[in-house]
Amino acid sequence: MTAPLTSRFPYAKGSDGTRRLGYGADYNPEQWSREVWADDIRLMREAGVNVVSLAIFSWARLQPTADTWDFGWLDEIMDLLHAGGIGVDLATATASPPPWLTTAHPEILPVTARGETLWPGARQHWRPTSPVFREHALNLVRRLASRYADHPALVAWHVNNELGCHNVYDYSDDAACTFRAWLRRRYTTLDALNNAWGTAFWSQRYSDWEQLLPPRLAASHPNPTQQLDFKRFSSDALKDHLLAEREILRELSPDTPVTTNFMVMPGTKGMDYADWADEVDFVANDHYVTPGPQDRDELSFSANLSSGIAGHRPWFLMEHSTSAVNWQPVNPPKAPGELARDSLLHVAHGADAVCFFQWRQSAAGAEKYHSAMVPHAGADSELFRSVVELGRTLDALAPIAGSEREPARVAILFDWDSWWAGEQDSHPTSRLDYHREALDWYSALLRLGHRADVVPAHRTDLSAYDVVIAPVLHVVPQPLAKELTRYVECGGHLVTTYFSAIVDENDHVWLGGYPGALRDVLGIRIEEFGPLLDGDTVDLDNGTSGSLWTDRISVTGTDVEVLAGYRTGTYASRPAVTRRGTGRGSATYVSTRLGADGLTVLLPELLAPAGVTSELPEHARGLVEHVVRRDAEHRYLFLVNRSDEQVALPGLTGDVLVAPRTEGDGLVLAPRQVAVLRQSAS
Ligand code: GAL
Repeated sequence: MTAPLTSRFPYAKGSDGTRRLGYGADYNPEQWSREVWADDIRLMREAGVNVVSLAIFSWARLQPTADTWDFGWLDEIMDLLHAGGIGVDLATATASPPPWLTTAHPEILPVTARGETLWPGARQHWRPTSPVFREHALNLVRRLASRYADHPALVAWHVNNELGCHNVYDYSDDAACTFRAWLRRRYTTLDALNNAWGTAFWSQRYSDWEQLLPPRLAASHPNPTQQLDFKRFSSDALKDHLLAEREILRELSPDTPVTTNFMVMPGTKGMDYADWADEVDFVANDHYVTPGPQDRDELSFSANLSSGIAGHRPWFLMEHSTSAVNWQPVNPPKAPGELARDSLLHVAHGADAVCFFQWRQSAAGAEKYHSAMVPHAGADSELFRSVVELGRTLDALAPIAGSEREPARVAILFDWDSWWAGEQDSHPTSRLDYHREALDWYSALLRLGHRADVVPAHRTDLSAYDVVIAPVLHVVPQPLAKELTRYVECGGHLVTTYFSAIVDENDHVWLGGYPGALRDVLGIRIEEFGPLLDGDTVDLDNGTSGSLWTDRISVTGTDVEVLAGYRTGTYASRPAVTRRGTGRGSATYVSTRLGADGLTVLLPELLAPAGVTSELPEHARGLVEHVVRRDAEHRYLFLVNRSDEQVALPGLTGDVLVAPRTEGDGLVLAPRQVAVLRQSAS
């Protein structure tokens, strides 16, 4: 079931009092003089900015020494922003502890698995479990909350910043101590812990809680369940910090919603955001494009998953980039049109605010080559003109504020436990990439012109979907196995893959043949895995080819069809893709990595029994992404040209909110252009 999530979204209001989509950026005025501040407010108004995130890295400025405070500059800028009609998402400023604190208390610094200290000089150099850090941080939060709770510019509180971006895994003594307490709560007895961790193996049995440690650098592979629990604990330790700050904000500033910016992206797997989502008043996400062949698929995937995490309620895009970033090996700028298209793709997937890192490009510091809304070149630039143009577009989209994403018929399940456990060491292959497998399925759906929801495995009412795809769902505890089985028995179409349903929540293998937790519903049994060496591929008899993994499948159930078999490789002439029919439902197993190309070939056969068809004309499939938002009266159709070609979309009806060229009763999307149509919901 989708868990209840309070959504107190901080909408800006237009002059007529109606809701507006949020538009703005991280704003770091402490890097600039007061003359620049005045210019900033003028340019923000020109661009249509209505919200900024303030004070994210201001701790050293707000508290220059342990006993001195300086709020004057923040008072001034809050007043200026308010006078300019711009709301403030005020950060608690705890993300980067100041030098006086780390000098006086080096025991707050994080420690790596190898025992190295992460020294100050960058940012986020604090242990999530340090009581000393916690005390100083909460003191700062208390001061800020008391001072600004009633400030008219305040629209939201922003806890810390990207919790866990650099400090998710800390192996310090503080972490060890808090990990022990976490383990005691989880297992109650040492016997239960020893059983869960399988400590009969390699003489690891614990006889005292004090013997337990984080999985520090060891002589060989640390205990897998210890590793998995440490990942769960590390996500919880950061969540605990979020809750500690939030409690103070709720006490002193109860009328203002609290959020923190998540990082739903492939590279940031340490935080289980599906588990954090209920703790914030509205979900906020940061997203940066990693250039590559699937980059816009990944943007759509992450935006889609953000919506899934938010229970399909509107969420806040807290950061993305207007153009280049500074932290990849090579940082190309965005092509013309991409700034708007990327922003609107997030909006299509439910973002009711579009913000950037950052407002004005820094002249100094590690991020001086990171793009911003006002670039080094100044306001007389193509980039700033695009920023102003996007402000107008978002204003035209005001009617969609508060609408929710319309559910698709197909879901892709995403699961942090499977991401963490599936990619651990000492496995059949170290090459497994959980996120990439899930993304490949999504890419194939996009190419075929299908809408799909990317949803957290444990927060989703599966019965809402005709087809549920669960790629590499490695960890399947018994309740989930029952839910998936019931889904199929009730007429759902389940698709799963290699290395799914292999272990329970303790990372213990379901015995009797793989994939133990779903063997019966799939009607197959696997005695041995067949991972492939780098570069090796196998051909399937449906014309596709597999890599990474194969399975030696025996069909054990009735009503199992072999949809594709291996033509080459160790398992030549054996099944590669199977489907068990169960009356109205079905359960499909794909035993190799087909990649987006192979899945594009296979998917039509998997979707056909559910009667799922594309809503796009054939020529537009793959070129255009189609997403729908809706409210009680309207459906809002987003048509996003993903390609560098012009695409004609004939036969569309509705009011055009964001206007491409029209032709008769159709639209013509220029390369990278987005159209938004409003239709009646009835
Ligand atoms: C985020 C961070 C920002 C800025 C940005 C650059 O991770 O929250 O402060 O560093 O990345 O892309």
